[in-house]
Amino acid sequence: MTNYLVTGGCGFIGSNFIKFIMGFSDTTVCNIDKLTYAGNPLNLLEFENDERYSFYRVDICDKKKVETIFKSRKIDIVVHFAAESHVDRSILSGIEFVKTNVEGTQSLIDVSRDYSVQQFIHVSTDEVYGSIKEPGKFTEKSELHPNSPYAASKASSDLMVLAAIRTHDFPAKITRCSNNYGPFQYPEKLIPLMVSNILEGKSLPIYGTGANIRDWIYVDDHCEGIYSVITKGRAGEVYNIGGRSEIKNIDLVHKIADELGVVPTIDFVKDRLAHDERYAIDFSKISKECDWHPNIGLERGLKNTISWYENNTGWLDKVKSNEYITYYKAQYEKS
Ligand code: NAD
Ligand code: DAU
Repeated sequence: MTNYLVTGGCGFIGSNFIKFIMGFSDTTVCNIDKLTYAGNPLNLLEFENDERYSFYRVDICDKKKVETIFKSRKIDIVVHFAAESHVDRSILSGIEFVKTNVEGTQSLIDVSRDYSVQQFIHVSTDEVYGSIKEPGKFTEKSELHPNSPYAASKASSDLMVLAAIRTHDFPAKITRCSNNYGPFQYPEKLIPLMVSNILEGKSLPIYGTGANIRDWIYVDDHCEGIYSVITKGRAGEVYNIGGRSEIKNIDLVHKIADELGVVPTIDFVKDRLAHDERYAIDFSKISKECDWHPNIGLERGLKNTISWYENNTGWLDKVKSNEYITYYKAQYEKS
């Protein structure tokens, strides 16, 4: 048996990753999640009665409670997703980002060292590199140049992990991935927000001119990339993960509208502060060392994603709670 401890497993990528590794019958998963606005236990309802799965509603900053969990069971591999993950929210207020992303990561490193885990996978982001002009691509050697409070908190957590590797020979690996999309993504992020607004007949808010470029990766490809790093990657190393699907925001939004068969009402709204112009990922290292590359192109991935949201309007309605309405007003209806 391989015993995983996954943090943030009720969020978007964490829940997709848990579904992926629960597919291996020699695996147990212990999921620690604080259940912030972004955490949704409904995402993992299928494992409610599965003896290989357990869930603890715990804040990763609460070291005592996390220690109790490590004490009660053997943990082989930690996969650390828990984070405040949305750039716009970090611009509204940064403090939770420092608490969870920096303090929470350090606390988890400390407990993982005390209990001698075999591997610690720190799930990070390409945003730590900042923005890059065409035709450049971020490599693992690119300078860290985070621009948003979110990106700065993730870069800080990467540095804490790298320090533990150097100082304590901590068996960690870092993955830095580009923009994910797919089922179960909270509708504050671009793709589900646009789908949700179209389904509700609302206008589509595009920051600035919509010329910013992101490299989109279907969440299943990211999960497989993380798994390839666990099984084939070298301890102490950083691995970029990318989707080979660069596109301007405005073109992506038109694709979504086309797929849903509507003529979109686009609202060009005030630009995001310090809005990164372009992300682009060189993922040759993970390809060579871990034999991984993305499999699901943007056309197929978008079709899957849109039809998932169309078929799961109940899920969407539930997550668009009062918290979502308050956030939406603060973000999009400010004067
Ligand atoms: P998400 O916001 O959907 O989920 C985050 C999860 O973490 C939620 O379930 C939340 O309840 C939990 N959480 C937050 N604070 C916590 C705390 N203090 N203790 C315990 N649990 C806590 O995020 P996501 O999009 O699934 O991202 C997961 C990870 O992947 C993050 O570390 C993010 O930085 C990274 N990442 C995301 C993307 C992307 O495009 N979404 C790309 C690259 C990397
Ligand atoms: O690159 C990886 C990162 O991707 C992850 O680390 C983050 O957790 C994740 O949120 C994502 O960050 P972005 O800021 O790139 O994603 P977001 O979906 O918020 O925005 C994508 C692009 O769309 C960006 O250029 C801003 C723009 N945008 C976004 C929203 C929500 C709009 O134009 N309008 C919007 O309403």
